Amino acid sequence: MIKTNDATSEQADHLFFDGVDLQLLAQRIPTPFHAYSTTAIRQRIGGLQAAMSGLDATICYAVKANPNLAILQLMANAGVGADIVSVGELRRSLHAGMPPERIVFSGVGKSADEIAGALTVGIHRFNVESHDELLTLQQLARTQGVTARAAVRINPDVDAHTHAKISTGKSENKFGVSIDEARQWFAERSLLSHVQLDGLHVHIGSQILTLEPFRLALQRVAAFRHELEQAGHPVNSIDVGGGLGVCYRAGEDHPVAAADYVAVIREALAGYHGRLLLEPGRYLVAEAGVLLTRVIRVKPGIERQFLVLDAAMNDLQRPSLYDAWHDIVPVSDEPRPLTTYDIVGPVCETGDTFARNRAMPECMAGDLLLIKATGAYGASMASTYNSRPLAPEVLLNQGRYAVVRRRQHFEEMIAGEQPARHWETT
Ligand code: LLP
Repeated sequence: MIKTNDATSEQADHLFFDGVDLQLLAQRIPTPFHAYSTTAIRQRIGGLQAAMSGLDATICYAVKANPNLAILQLMANAGVGADIVSVGELRRSLHAGMPPERIVFSGVGKSADEIAGALTVGIHRFNVESHDELLTLQQLARTQGVTARAAVRINPDVDAHTHAKISTGKSENKFGVSIDEARQWFAERSLLSHVQLDGLHVHIGSQILTLEPFRLALQRVAAFRHELEQAGHPVNSIDVGGGLGVCYRAGEDHPVAAADYVAVIREALAGYHGRLLLEPGRYLVAEAGVLLTRVIRVKPGIERQFLVLDAAMNDLQRPSLYDAWHDIVPVSDEPRPLTTYDIVGPVCETGDTFARNRAMPECMAGDLLLIKATGAYGASMASTYNSRPLAPEVLLNQGRYAVVRRRQHFEEMIAGEQPARHWETT
């Protein structure tokens, strides 16, 4: 039997995802393509919202996890806001109908143009990561004659016990500022005529599977809030970031439950009655997504047997970039003997490997496979490397499907490129 998550179920030897028969879907839409379950996303949003009941809290979905307009629309309709890190994400969010008053802007390298653009549309809040950025925000807000709401992103120097490339809350990381520096910002708050500095923000990393790092970071934020209020600086907003982990490897990864996570927030921030913001990305969409791919061929190698898929590292970078594990299963449960494969894509580098030495039911050319938990940082990190077009994205909802991004045409891939006809000098 295939191990499935909430939204998947099996009937006969076909696998259903959000009520859609994946074998039939893959006959309509050539592989590779991403499929997302609306039901699974709604369940995650609903679960988190229920856990937060009684709190003045808003979920600002981290758009970078999956910025497809249909996903953003789904979020907006569920009352969720957006955590953006670029003007591109701002435009997508607005385009999807996200109200500006539910948008927060994070990121260590916001350019002056991006800050000005976000001020113009009147986003809810800026999560400021350096003194230089704070001064730029003040200057641009003054030029526009508006007051910007701002939170300082604290780097709490906490180890998130996750992959080094997605850890953000250690003092050696580029993100946020120390509590000492933040203290100085608040002390000079009155010099900021056009910035209302009244918030704290913290985000310590991603794919965090234990509560301790969250607790530690929030305790530091809580102590600092207390100190600020004692010094006469009101804190009206605390943004606790994202980072909640998900299950990539059945039986091995044990994510924390939303209710336990929110209980830690409630406990650490007891006595705080201002606004809470949460910025989950992966938690809302990762397990709601799968990448459908077919076996191109089985290649017996010198030392290993290779399963060559029609999906590649350009469609899903996580295994090549972070050595990330994704469960991979055939879309059929007809009994077959187990064997071991290196599961690879067609891209011309060894890093184009989804799994090494993976035990799998024996496969043959044409078999349909499911790479699981690809809804976050899958399509959003895709590229056209090896001139492979961006794969389609399909939204599923209780037996129906809608293509929410069609496969990129070759002409779109080369759009903007041109022969060097017009040579100019600087
Ligand atoms: N807030 C901020 C300020 C962030 O930088 C991030 C993610 C989030 C929220 C959302 O984190 P989440 O809840 O999704 O863990 N590409 C990597 C993940 C990079 C995360 C970057 N920042 C991966 O595929 O694992």
